Amino acid sequence: MYHQMKMMMYGVRDDERPFIEQWQEQNHIDVQLTDQLLTEETVDQARGYDGIVAFQQLSYSNRMLQRMTEIGIYNLSLRNVGVDNIDLKQVAKLGIKLTNVPVYSPEAIAEFTVTQLMQLLRRTKEYTQKFEKHDFRWAPQISKELNQQTVGVIGTGHIGQCAIRIFQGFGAKVIAYDKFHNPELERQGLYVDTLDELYCQATVITLHIPLFPSTQHMIDATAIAKMNPGVIILNAARGQLIDEQALIDGLDRGIIGGAALDVMEDEIKVFNRNLGDQKIDYPEFNNLFSRDNVLISPHTAFYTDVAVRNMVEVSLNNNRQLIETGTADNLISTD
Ligand code: COI
Repeated sequence: MYHQMKMMMYGVRDDERPFIEQWQEQNHIDVQLTDQLLTEETVDQARGYDGIVAFQQLSYSNRMLQRMTEIGIYNLSLRNVGVDNIDLKQVAKLGIKLTNVPVYSPEAIAEFTVTQLMQLLRRTKEYTQKFEKHDFRWAPQISKELNQQTVGVIGTGHIGQCAIRIFQGFGAKVIAYDKFHNPELERQGLYVDTLDELYCQATVITLHIPLFPSTQHMIDATAIAKMNPGVIILNAARGQLIDEQALIDGLDRGIIGGAALDVMEDEIKVFNRNLGDQKIDYPEFNNLFSRDNVLISPHTAFYTDVAVRNMVEVSLNNNRQLIETGTADNLISTD
């Protein structure tokens, strides 16, 4: 008998629903929605479905993956790009086919990064605090200009390239580091050969690379010691790229002049939650959050209408392709 394809979608937010409904109407495929995250406790709800579409910052546990295969589901499509919260060895071992959305809106992340840099350069956090007390004087918050900065872009994939275009539009000098060289950026002569060169020249450093074991804590005390005094660090990639204690020491010693963090090492303790008056049990967060020259945002760089639409549509298309063909254009390689 003809089998009608069915998908189960976890972690659904209200802002995603209109895009999901539109996709369902166009594709005539049944998608069951839940706002619950995909865990060992919730995975059984997908029994009888052909594929799972998920989105969460929480790690996908190995026991959940195991259980998924026990109930006969091998197709898992993530609505985001990063796959650092899922054990790819386990995915491969269990024969799960995993997809992501590799490019949903690099502009969203790049524009947010530049916004945060502008806020740091123009010292808006300090001004807002003064204005709240009806102190409308200019001084002493004299600012810096972006066109005077040398911006070191680490990672020149889709997001890094967008960021570079915007920084150049403001007249900043851009230098870049990546293991893989983009031919157009190479032609422009933007690449430095080593991170040390970038650290030594940049007045602003922005991270646009994935989290791998090799990139974990790449910004540590040793790296910071090589940087220009007063350097600004921007991170809208992954929290674990930066050793937060080393960042705090660098700020205390004035080597680091400011930071904008859209991601943090232990962010799931705080981000995307309404904590009200609760005490926050995360000393590095509390320290950094209290500083005038540090901006913290709760992993919101991705959160735009364009990005959310693409995350929904592409992940559903990926899951459909997996179910229909056993593979997908956005299949994650697990070798
Ligand atoms: C990603 O797409 O990997 C992101 O960082 C978005 C996030 C909210 C999971």
